[in-house]
Amino acid sequence: MKATIQLKIMGCRLNHAEGAFIQGALERIGYCFVTDPATTPDYAIIHTCTITAQAQREAQRLVRGYLRAGVRGVIVSGCAASTDKTHEFEANGAAAVVANSLGEVRHGSNEEANAIADRILYALTHGAVEGEYMPSFASTRASIKIQDGCNFRCAYCIVPDARGEPRSRGVDDILAECDMLLSKGFRELVLTGVNTICWHADGLNLCGLIKRVAADSRVGRIRLGSIEPRTTERELIELMADPSAKLCQTLHYPLQSGSNNILKLMRRHYTREQYCEVVEAALETLPQIGLGSDIITGFPGETEQDFADTVEIVEKFPFSNLHVFPYSERPGTPAATLPHSVPMDVRRNRAKQLIAIGERKRCEFVTNFVGKSVEVLVERVDENGVGRGWTSEYLEVRISGCSSNDVGRLISVVPHEAQADMLYASITSGN
Ligand code: 5AD
Ligand code: SF4
Repeated sequence: MKATIQLKIMGCRLNHAEGAFIQGALERIGYCFVTDPATTPDYAIIHTCTITAQAQREAQRLVRGYLRAGVRGVIVSGCAASTDKTHEFEANGAAAVVANSLGEVRHGSNEEANAIADRILYALTHGAVEGEYMPSFASTRASIKIQDGCNFRCAYCIVPDARGEPRSRGVDDILAECDMLLSKGFRELVLTGVNTICWHADGLNLCGLIKRVAADSRVGRIRLGSIEPRTTERELIELMADPSAKLCQTLHYPLQSGSNNILKLMRRHYTREQYCEVVEAALETLPQIGLGSDIITGFPGETEQDFADTVEIVEKFPFSNLHVFPYSERPGTPAATLPHSVPMDVRRNRAKQLIAIGERKRCEFVTNFVGKSVEVLVERVDENGVGRGWTSEYLEVRISGCSSNDVGRLISVVPHEAQADMLYASITSGN
């Protein structure tokens, strides 16, 4: 019997997608993944994030926690592992460290942990391997990593250090992975990357790739992550309006700040006016579009007025998915040495205000869908016939009256109720 492993994934959608590959590759050679937090696994894998100092500290804390609980070894991978120049993870007791963006494994004395770490690096650098292993996704939705790295060099961001220069996977390679996933029954394909909109290969841009992926009749729909402002977002919005592209109607469009002074200091290459113009165009084309954004509060030099400018934009549009981060100094980034640092309690307080606004806006957005037809891809159905799935706008819906045959199907329903941010519908009530 092979050992048990608990996998802890931190950070973004891309990290979660990578986690599925790590799990698939290790399950294939006999490891059993356990999720129950009350049981101590033989090994723990932490796939880390380094976007903020807090995320990095949390990863170190998890290493110590697993060791106290009595695991045989902790293996650390991901962005915090790739930027850990002083080998702090080893100092905290990690058995092996996978600095995947450097293509490197730092081994220790535990042979089994070393072998697990090698396998993780293999999974992260090869993706799915036909006939060998598949990623382990929990529903009918699968992520495909089409791109890695970023060179936008926003002043606050450590990601270029953690993930390296931008690299795009080739079209044939991506289509082959899509084919594998579709033949296993996955119906929604999520195209992920660090800066997905920068994907280009074989003479195509992201919109061209989406059309190629959508051409397979087994594809139910295609979803995207974050899209950077001032790229080809307008072309993408047009594509969302074309049903043959099967593209979900969501735009996660990071604002970071609503103040032109701060945007400039952040080295973002757009103004608040340009940002608003695109969102207005998107709402004109697709009035129900699911809008998301990332915002950083308390960037160096952010005044009360700068923050008020951000609040104004957030209030102005029907955002349904806000990610708010108090600014965190990342060593080596240009912003880390900027003057006029904002006290941490002010950063946190501003974040709290925006999170509250974001929650209110999400509920308003969700309530708007009561009595309107939405399309849901059913991901699972429980023993009571209650199906669960997501709409194109990325809202969760529970549907009564489903059968297990509905899993993987796209169905139209009219929600009769919204509670908090969940919609409720029934197949029998006139749908
Ligand atoms: N501090 C706080 N938030 C950050 N982000 C990136 N770098 C930092 C930082 N140093 C946020 C941005 C980005 C999201 C993924 O993380 O909002 O869009
Ligand atoms: Fe975190 Fe960025 Fe790495 Fe994703 S790419 S895990 S957000 S540091």
